[in-house]
Amino acid sequence: MFRLACLPGDGIGQEVTTQALRVLAALKIKYNLDYTYRTGLIGGSAIDETGEPFPRETKELVAQSDAVFLGAVGGLKWDGPEKKVRPEQGLLAIRKELRLYANLRPVKCWPQLMEQAPFKKERIAEVDLLIVRELTGGAYFGARGTETIAGETRAFDTIAYSDKEIRRLVKIAFELARQRRKKVTSVDKANILDTSRLWRKIVLEEAVNYPDISLNHLYVDNCAMQLCLNPSQFDVLVTENTFGDILSDQASVLGGSLGMLPSASLGEGPALYEPVHGSAPDIAGQDLANPLAAILSVAMMLRLSWQQPEAAIAVERAVERVLNRGLRTADLWLPNYIRVGTSAMTDAVIAELS
Ligand code: IPM
Ligand code: MG
Repeated sequence: MFRLACLPGDGIGQEVTTQALRVLAALKIKYNLDYTYRTGLIGGSAIDETGEPFPRETKELVAQSDAVFLGAVGGLKWDGPEKKVRPEQGLLAIRKELRLYANLRPVKCWPQLMEQAPFKKERIAEVDLLIVRELTGGAYFGARGTETIAGETRAFDTIAYSDKEIRRLVKIAFELARQRRKKVTSVDKANILDTSRLWRKIVLEEAVNYPDISLNHLYVDNCAMQLCLNPSQFDVLVTENTFGDILSDQASVLGGSLGMLPSASLGEGPALYEPVHGSAPDIAGQDLANPLAAILSVAMMLRLSWQQPEAAIAVERAVERVLNRGLRTADLWLPNYIRVGTSAMTDAVIAELS
């Protein structure tokens, strides 16, 4: 029996998680998916109920699960410089708790959505890349502080990486490249940062074990430019936490919308699956959110945690077919397309599955 923990979180996280679970339920009989799920609190809604963004009950729940599905966290209500407890801390805490060091963010150009992307067709048509982002180190988790000395206030964050942390991630990137087009681009700032120099050294050491994989290195600023100029050159991009955060939002534009991007975070225990988009409080509760990123995250879960590649492919094909039929949520709608809401989009995916 597969034990799934569902953490809907805040804003549209609630809606898209509901839709993801509907898709999973629709696959249950055909693919013989034997599972139970339990729901837990995270982010702002957890702060409201318990005072903490990652409460003890949720910690226990995820520890007893085989995988975690997360919606999104955050919202205006919990924002502001004066707030000491923030929803995002819940996300960082669960990443740390489950040691989810490898974050996989695939981006591909959907031919059906090319009109929506602000790029020339021929530039993005071949885009099919995978960002492998380090998720439990770097500036997100380094020493930090704010201090006022002699009337001057100074804040600092530190980036630190060990060889071990880099190596385990880089191995995953090389392994994944083997199942793809056999190319790894390592992104760093080795002309400036010590952490990046160590990064590069470890990447080069590991590359010896993967002679079948072609490797190149890019500075992060150049990589940002290349993602606009010639994005189809990339297969697997491997990088540290902050660079990966920034580059994955940038790369999402190539796929048409952040609303289409799934993700998986892998560690030593249960993996976590979540749409890359945030909680979008401005459209929450209005049946406007695009559920496809969440639904595609279910496909990643079926493939990586459930070893059900056929069910994963079925979900991805169903998404393709609803796009082919011209169905679009608000984020992707253009005149001449059929505008649908969150649940109607899911209805259509489920109809395509059966
Ligand atoms: C992401 C998000 C998070 C991050 C925030 C919400 C903490 O932007 O998953 O990319 O920066 O990692
Ligand atoms: Mg981000």
